[in-house]
Amino acid sequence: MLVLGIETSCDETGVALYDSEAGLLADVLYSQVALHAQYGGVVPELASRDHIRKLIPLCKETLDEAGKSLNDLSAIAYTAGPGLMGALLVGATFGRSLAWGLGIPAIAVHHMEAHLLAPLIEENQPPLPFIALLVSGGHTQLVEVNGLGDYKLLGESLDDAAGEAFDKAAKMLGLRYPGGPNLARCAESGDPKRFHFPRPMTDRPGLDFSFSGLKTFTLNTVNAHEPLADQDRADIARAFEEAVVDTLVIKCRRAVEQAGVPHLVVAGGVSANVRLRQRLEAKLDATVYYAAPRLCTDNGAMIAYAGCQRLLHGERAPLSVDTRARWPITELVVPGGS
Ligand code: KG4
Ligand code: ZN
Repeated sequence: MLVLGIETSCDETGVALYDSEAGLLADVLYSQVALHAQYGGVVPELASRDHIRKLIPLCKETLDEAGKSLNDLSAIAYTAGPGLMGALLVGATFGRSLAWGLGIPAIAVHHMEAHLLAPLIEENQPPLPFIALLVSGGHTQLVEVNGLGDYKLLGESLDDAAGEAFDKAAKMLGLRYPGGPNLARCAESGDPKRFHFPRPMTDRPGLDFSFSGLKTFTLNTVNAHEPLADQDRADIARAFEEAVVDTLVIKCRRAVEQAGVPHLVVAGGVSANVRLRQRLEAKLDATVYYAAPRLCTDNGAMIAYAGCQRLLHGERAPLSVDTRARWPITELVVPGGS
């Protein structure tokens, strides 16, 4: 089965080819970072228009790279949600129509399920069941995974997502969009002992998160030290990163212990964070699995892979183009199940 995967939910146009026998054959990504940087964040309308410009050339490039043609495809998978509605519509409309034109199935993929499954593209696969920490720009969730589409939500952020908090803290520090990776880079030269930021909701039981108080704490610290010298900026970035990482690690440890499941998958953009990876490995009595850093942030490979898994379980999207800006992962069902 050869599946073309299309990702256009936010600010990356990703196209990839996944073969159920041979694995990932091609994976092409166009990032809109430069387009949005001047505005300090993603401008949805500009994102949609840029996806329209890039999608067809990227599909051609992907097929060329793998030495394949449209006639070789078994199915087309596209991100149907959650994400920016206009951006989603570009990939979904194109993917659904192309599949119809070729007379092959289409698969409507859930973006967070695709993140969750991305570490499984690697050779070192976790056994079922496993716990997944999903940490992206829009979501922070702990999920018990019992199989494809069989997800039990254990906890989630009550306000900002971890990635969103990284992005907002970076903005307060005057760092450029995209905030997460830039803040992490800035924190490298920071002194971890100078400031101590709170670890929200870790002193009470439960697996939910809250990052908005940490955001206010960061803003107050920035205001108290204005104008910021480079070292102040690095020290605050380090304290912020330490606080988010510690909070995530504490909750992951709790989830793994409570479920009695010693396998943790970490997925989504924030899973590219090196300090998070190091700390999880040091502090958890569990095997930790990630995608390759390139597959942690948005990409077409995870959509092609997730689409292929659902295709193999007999799933087919209807002819209508259904996109959803909000789509809880717990609404997914086991393909072919009741
Ligand atoms: O999964 P993703 O690419 O898009 C969404 O589905 O949201 O995640 C993007 C998020 C952004 O908030 C970005 O700042 C964050 O992931 N991120 C990072 C790092 N790389 C990306 N946060 C912290 N450290 C990083 N190295
Ligand atoms: Zn994402």
